[in-house]
Amino acid sequence: MEYDGRRATDNQQEGIMQDHVVIFDTTLRDGEQAPGASMTLPEKVRIARQLALLNVDVIEAGFPISSPAQSQAVEVVAGEVEGPVICALARAVEADVRAAGEALRPGLTGKTRIHTFIATSDIHLDAKFGDARFGRTLEEKRRTILRMAQEAVAHARTYTSDVEFSAEDAGRTDLGYLCEIVQAAVEAGATTINIPDTTGYCIPREYAALFEAVKDCLKDHPSVVLSAHCHDDLGLAVANSLAAVLAGARQIECTLNGIGERAGNAALEEVVMALRVRRELFELDTQIEAQHLAESSKMISIAVGFPVPPNKAVVGRNAFSHEAGIHQHGVLRRRDTYEIMRAEDVGQKPEQIRLGRHSGRHGLFSRLEKLGLLVPQDQQDAIYRRFVELADRKKEIYDQDLYHLIDAREEVPMTPFYRLDRMSIAAGTNQPPEADVTIHHYRTGQDRREHATGDGPVDALYRAIDHAVGSAHVLESYTIRSVSEGADAVGEVTVLVGDNGAFFRGMARHTDVLQASAAAYLEALNQLEAFRADEESVVFVSNGIMQSFQGGIA
Ligand code: KIV
Ligand code: ZN
Repeated sequence: MEYDGRRATDNQQEGIMQDHVVIFDTTLRDGEQAPGASMTLPEKVRIARQLALLNVDVIEAGFPISSPAQSQAVEVVAGEVEGPVICALARAVEADVRAAGEALRPGLTGKTRIHTFIATSDIHLDAKFGDARFGRTLEEKRRTILRMAQEAVAHARTYTSDVEFSAEDAGRTDLGYLCEIVQAAVEAGATTINIPDTTGYCIPREYAALFEAVKDCLKDHPSVVLSAHCHDDLGLAVANSLAAVLAGARQIECTLNGIGERAGNAALEEVVMALRVRRELFELDTQIEAQHLAESSKMISIAVGFPVPPNKAVVGRNAFSHEAGIHQHGVLRRRDTYEIMRAEDVGQKPEQIRLGRHSGRHGLFSRLEKLGLLVPQDQQDAIYRRFVELADRKKEIYDQDLYHLIDAREEVPMTPFYRLDRMSIAAGTNQPPEADVTIHHYRTGQDRREHATGDGPVDALYRAIDHAVGSAHVLESYTIRSVSEGADAVGEVTVLVGDNGAFFRGMARHTDVLQASAAAYLEALNQLEAFRADEESVVFVSNGIMQSFQGGIA
């Protein structure tokens, strides 16, 4: 019988009908395995609720045997999050499967899955199963592993009828052995077979061939769901996952923002939108409520502390922004000239015309018009000239800058919110470092002086600046490097400041690294304020002259 991935499974997998690609989210398990990405229990529950809102089919909530915190996370998510199947990971050993089964017990709707795995590639067998009790020869080890897989699957079936088996490092596993072990797992009761490219080694053609081969050896089990699980070591995780779908996979394992071990996993938002945008090609879709993708991406970025790169596909801040004149002209006429999906369909702001040094007159004057700033024909050349001069000095031109431009001021301040007027720092052997700063607020015209102590001089300085600025933000990263040699070397400081998913960079160089630190921080804070003010701006216009605006500059 031909394998037909679109048939409904005959097992417990209520809600998982194979007329769509099952989205198995592993942000809370493989995602959390990314170095530095650990999440607290409340964060995990919040993310799991968001995943339910996104309508993922399966949430892999943790690896219960690995720690009490992991076990508790699975228990709480299974007990509190309704909708998706809740899954727990277990190695193919008795204690792991028991821990997974017990952690899943509170399962709200009874939709629970145990995902058991064991390594199958020769390299893993050799390195991980060296102990003589697994056998001496490769063949003996393979027999032992196969038996362990069967036993683990059968044991998992005593807790739930929804059992997934993964052949770890399938991407580098001997094909004949891979077929044997997946057949054995299915005969023992596995309902989903996962073929992970654990090391991100495969290219799409090879990975698809694995699925063709496995599909063929499971042709007598048409209801078994084949699953792709790809790592991004060569940047191919999404491409490989999609190639697997074309070859018969009907489940993709992925994470928000692609976080995960090493280079990460396939990014959920990318696989979902690739399937949706190219639906005519795949003839399949997912059940994801894509309008929640951007907020989900922000949420995980904040929880794990990894900023979303601005150029990140689908959810990056620049994913729907156009700076180049030709592009702006195109999208202003017809969005699909340069956009293959609608920003609002993934929860992003539509038609983001970003003004910078590559923008043309069309982009500038259409933005001004949107702001209600109608520039008379005879003034347009002068305004455009001033815009080009400013764009050469500034990375991005915000609406606030445009107001200044129109206001006919010759000097447009680069940092229109805060200016550091004075700083003094004291550090010594038996005293905590102290900093004293005076910040000028352009908005109010007032100076604010503050004092703070800290763990080190930069910490004290940044705390004092935070007090003097008085706005909420998070210092995401601080790096310093020497850009010349010797004790009087020039230090270059780069900081990243974040607020609610938006990130702003400041950079400064100085022989005095504390001055560079202060200048870089102020630059980032000014960018953040410009961004905030931009978001808040409301303009009332008559006769082409701006009358008032909220969030503007006093
Ligand atoms: O990458 C991998 O092989 C895994 C398994 C546990 C499925 O994460
Ligand atoms: Zn993995």
